[in-house]
Amino acid sequence: MLRVAVCVSGGGTNLQALIDAIDKGEVRNAEIVRVISNKAGVKALDRALSHGIQAVTVDRKAFPGDAEFFNALQTAIDDAEPDLVVLAGFLTVLPSGIVQKYKNRIINIHPSLIPSFCGKGYYGLKVHEAVLKRGVKVTGATVHFVDEGCDSGPILLQKAVEVKDGDTPQILQKRVMEEAEWVLLPMAVDMIANGVNI
Ligand code: GRF
Repeated sequence: MLRVAVCVSGGGTNLQALIDAIDKGEVRNAEIVRVISNKAGVKALDRALSHGIQAVTVDRKAFPGDAEFFNALQTAIDDAEPDLVVLAGFLTVLPSGIVQKYKNRIINIHPSLIPSFCGKGYYGLKVHEAVLKRGVKVTGATVHFVDEGCDSGPILLQKAVEVKDGDTPQILQKRVMEEAEWVLLPMAVDMIANGVNI
């Protein structure tokens, strides 16, 4: 059974998609053993708790500096003894100490077709605002392994989504979530949990 720790920062819709996919048997041989948030009081924590999943907050504001925060974050991850760490709407770039300790065992879901519209400053609605501003006709989502960069690790899965006339960032974000993110993240965890050659 693959032990999965999920790091979140906000709404937790990707976490919910993973929870639901496990419940439906679409993701086999995996269990979410802990949800870790870097922000207090976010809906992702409620989603975890209402599903009986241990939820921990490591709030950056509660620490004097980055070193103390990242130490606490690593402890929260280590204590879960995960085989895989999933960044699901997690808005902090992990320090090299954590990335190295969990080398090739951290994945992230990003709401664009990397290498487009990714990297520093591209998160949440900002991604879709940039997509619409550029006028591309196709966008999508990417699951990638996390390295020491930002959205720069090896790509595992991608799925394209059509940009439609009249799309607002909010409408496009919802379509990318529904048609791509919430499909790809469970698929990636199932692949890793069941030894698919990746
Ligand atoms: C989503 O756009 C996701 O792709 C990005 O963060 C946003 C919120 O995700 N990483 P969630 O609803 O908190 O899972």
